[in-house]
Amino acid sequence: MTTEHVFPKDFLWGGAIAANQAEGAFNVDGKGLSTADMVSYTKTKNYSDIASLMHRSSESIEKALQDPSAKGYPKRYGIDFYHHYKEDIALFAEMGFKVFRLSIAWTRIFPNGDDAQPNEQGLQHYEDLFNELRKYNIEPLVTLSHYEMPMNLVLKYGSWKNRAVIGFFERYAETVMTRYKDLVKYWLTFNEINTTIIEPFTGAGIITDREENSQQAAYQALHHQFIASSLVTKRAKEINPEFQIGCMLARMLHYPATSKPADMIQCQFDNQMNLMYTDVQVRGSYPPITKRFFAENDIQIQTEAEDEAILKKYTVDFISFSYYMTLISTVTPEDYGVTGGNLFSTVKNPYLEVTEWGWQLDPEGLRYALKEMYDRYQVPLFVVENGLGASDVLEADGTIIDDYRIEYFRQHLGQLKEAIQDGVDVMGYTSWGAIDIISASTSEMSKRYGFIYVDQDNEGQGTLKRFKKKSFDWYKKVIASNGEDL
Ligand code: BG6
Repeated sequence: MTTEHVFPKDFLWGGAIAANQAEGAFNVDGKGLSTADMVSYTKTKNYSDIASLMHRSSESIEKALQDPSAKGYPKRYGIDFYHHYKEDIALFAEMGFKVFRLSIAWTRIFPNGDDAQPNEQGLQHYEDLFNELRKYNIEPLVTLSHYEMPMNLVLKYGSWKNRAVIGFFERYAETVMTRYKDLVKYWLTFNEINTTIIEPFTGAGIITDREENSQQAAYQALHHQFIASSLVTKRAKEINPEFQIGCMLARMLHYPATSKPADMIQCQFDNQMNLMYTDVQVRGSYPPITKRFFAENDIQIQTEAEDEAILKKYTVDFISFSYYMTLISTVTPEDYGVTGGNLFSTVKNPYLEVTEWGWQLDPEGLRYALKEMYDRYQVPLFVVENGLGASDVLEADGTIIDDYRIEYFRQHLGQLKEAIQDGVDVMGYTSWGAIDIISASTSEMSKRYGFIYVDQDNEGQGTLKRFKKKSFDWYKKVIASNGEDL
């Protein structure tokens, strides 16, 4: 088969960021405190247990709440995208972006989550930003909830485990969807919804040391997010029938460590549990595997009579997902070495190389994941995160030679191309992140993902000046050739 003209004509090429990692301006124009504002930077090179790095104790939250400054809390200052967005969008336009994925900070719109009225300054900010994107014909792809929520909802209501939070989220979603109904067409409800289980504070504002049974609290919170996502999907179609609503999963594809049947069964289970989220959001019900899992783990989810019908009726239009690595399943992990991971560590795959942060590089896994998900669900797929975190070096002449990143993208996009040839319907691809931002897991600045370098260090020192990396021109060429020239 010829490799020419593989990507559809209207393929959405672009990049992605999240408000909490980029905007900064945490106390500007009426913004309230969010969960992301509680996360301090810890100097560590131990990346083997990133979930625990992301975990927040009650004590650390108390401390953060008392601290009004941004120092030591990188997500409070980000890369000051809040004030630099025009300059940054101009650079995205220069690369030829067709789409730009970003999130809205809920606390800019409803600073406390339960406010009677939305904050007009926050609403105006995103209106200006979307207009700026439209000026360059860049389609916004907006995540409603990306790893942040109002701290007030956490402290006053116990966060997503409380059903009342569904209503607050619906109001927030309805407010922004109504305001931007002619500016935004593509929406995602919850970023990496499976993070609610893997790291409940990041995903759902659950402070685990305040819970008697934190796993139970996390699954309860997840159920409420599923319901909220469905209700928002329903409302979205009433506001604008043209809206396209997607769910968002951190795809954690597992391979068996051996062909030993017990490893195969374990692997099947791990994949089923990872796809449980999309099963609910696309097929409209919890898959059978969860029944035994909940029973054996003493998880009892409180539901309302209407929940089953809500999940069944208001499913998403497309699946978006992040893809960074693959994992290994085994019943005897002690037989193998362990490597770092995005949200958790895993057994090392001897066939794969790892990044500086211990993430296993597996471009072919992207093809596998795409094919498997398309076979299973037959709805359009959107790769909304994929990229390489590396310590780039700014040379004295202002250049950044990131050949390793170009190679990473070349290989992953090559596999994406294969998947399209295999018949998978892929709507678009937004690399993570379009520009260097604060790392979600470690809060470092030095873990860089962008095509654009931002002059700032881990302590928040720097000019914030933007520099184009070598990969900037490479990606520009990829987009201009619609993926033919990788
Ligand atoms: C995803 C998140 O898990 O991975 C992003 O949706 C995050 O917010 C990205 O930044 C990369 O992870 P990290 O920890 O290297 O920033």
